[in-house]
Amino acid sequence: MDQPDKITETEEQLVLLKAELEDIKLKFIESDKLAFIGRLTAGIMHEIKNPLNFINNFTKQSQNLNAEISEILDGLSDKLDEDTLADLNDARSMLAGNLSRILENGERAQRIVFSMLAQMRDKQETVFELTDVNNLLDEFAKLAYQGVRGNDKEFNLTFKTDYDLTLVPINLGLQEISRVIINLVNNACYALNEKKKTHKESFSPEIFLATKKLDDFVEIRIRDNGSGIPQTVIDKLFTPFFSTKPKGQGTGLGLSLSHDIITNIHKGKIEISSKENEYTEFKILIPTNLS
Ligand SMILES: Nc1ncnc2c1ncn2[C@@H]1O[C@H](COP(=O)(O)OP(=O)(O)OP(=O)(O)O)[C@@H](O)[C@H]1O
Ligand SMILES: [Mg+2]
Repeated sequence: MDQPDKITETEEQLVLLKAELEDIKLKFIESDKLAFIGRLTAGIMHEIKNPLNFINNFTKQSQNLNAEISEILDGLSDKLDEDTLADLNDARSMLAGNLSRILENGERAQRIVFSMLAQMRDKQETVFELTDVNNLLDEFAKLAYQGVRGNDKEFNLTFKTDYDLTLVPINLGLQEISRVIINLVNNACYALNEKKKTHKESFSPEIFLATKKLDDFVEIRIRDNGSGIPQTVIDKLFTPFFSTKPKGQGTGLGLSLSHDIITNIHKGKIEISSKENEYTEFKILIPTNLS
């Protein structure tokens, strides 16, 4: 190959390299923009969460008030003329309809905000802190249960525990692991509630919480005696958006996020065992050497 050919070839290579560099530069700008949009969205979601909570709570209170007013009106029905009574009845049923539509949509918005916030998790650095796993499990399992009872006062269960008292505090992402516990206990409560619907009084819902110190791991077990999981769907549980809840109720993100938190952030393991109509158990292993 003579000299001019070589120069042409080098020039061509340079042009290609320059284009590649331009491409990389654009990708950098793009990812920076995306990171910024991510932070901005997380900020907005946080700001929206509280007013939304406020709207939903006050709508529930207004529903209770409307029910009280209805009772009073029922007591007054013989003192009112027919037209006034009909007008009042129309108004209160329209009000009840409006309130339930507000709540339905408010709760839908709340679910979207929560799952978006949860998805934003990986944009934020995990803070590892020395944590007493027994306390963490106990506290957040009961918190999740209180949350469920907040929406359904009829729901009751018994916690049984077997905590390994020889455990020493380990480093873990406190926020992330507490989210996993809440997800698992929420799922357990749902499964217990489902079973209660068919088994009624003969069934006593239970959640069993246990910890154990192993050589290089701490083991956490969360077990319920609820509806269980059919073998055919067990492999799909960690897939994002997989849910067996009625349409509009579950995002199907709880377990996929929990899986991500345990396996990617903590380099641990999460395993399921279940028998339909008998039990479901989630076993989590968290390495003790995290920093
Ligand atoms: N303890 C359990 N008992 C029975 N089924 C369970 C249990 N935990 C999870 N599942 C099944 O796994 C599916 C996926 O759970 P996941 O937490 O990912 O989503 P979800 O609970 O349906 O929705 P979300 O978490 O947004 O409310 C559930 O719909 C349910 O079918
Ligand atoms: Mg769930």
